[in-house]
Amino acid sequence: MTARLVVAVDGPAAAGKGTLARALAEALGLPYLDTGLLYRGVGRRMLDAGLSPEADAGGEARALLPIDLARSDLRTPEVDRAASLVAAQPAVRAALLAFQRGFGAAHGAVLDGRDIGTVIFPDAPVKLFVTASVPARAERRWRQLNPGRNPDLGTLRVVAAELEARDRADAARAVAPLRAAADAVEIDSDRLDARGVLETALDIVKARGFAPGPHQRPSL
Ligand code: DC
Repeated sequence: MTARLVVAVDGPAAAGKGTLARALAEALGLPYLDTGLLYRGVGRRMLDAGLSPEADAGGEARALLPIDLARSDLRTPEVDRAASLVAAQPAVRAALLAFQRGFGAAHGAVLDGRDIGTVIFPDAPVKLFVTASVPARAERRWRQLNPGRNPDLGTLRVVAAELEARDRADAARAVAPLRAAADAVEIDSDRLDARGVLETALDIVKARGFAPGPHQRPSL
């Protein structure tokens, strides 16, 4: 099949969407976009401007530049909260929509986020919804921020509470809430390692008639 392949990878925070989406993009020879970075970049710009992330962030979203996405300080707990708050604003989502659609439309792509299969690419031929238990996600997030160290239980409880609060906010917002598309296939990453998750996803891609391999060239 030669149709443009868009793979939508959605799910809650720290479920392993990024790990899967990056590996899938490589296996399929497609460009990859971490759409969470867009909201993190907008949240970061609001904080840097001394503005509350609850204030109108549409202007900062329209002013977002590639350099805002390359910063090394986009994964702090402060930016986690700011990103979730700006992501609830319709003006922010509207400002970021065309870029995301254009990215996937050019050559096909793998995109990960919260609303890729429901809003950005509702016709994507492959939609995956990656989940994992709260304790597994809390530990994953903590290890991402503290490589090579071991967390204590109290710390993990705090991280878990923050993740759950953010997921609740992302799922409860009126515009483009976090939810699985009706035709998404759910992958529980608790019971699989990264390789197992990738193999499951590649089987789904094949079942939809797309052959793995570098059939598309990355644009970025
Ligand atoms: O995937 P992430 O943790 O980097 O996302 C950061 C925040 O951005 C998250 O709280 C929800 C929001 N987001 C969103 O609303 N829609 C997306 N497509 C991606 C992220």
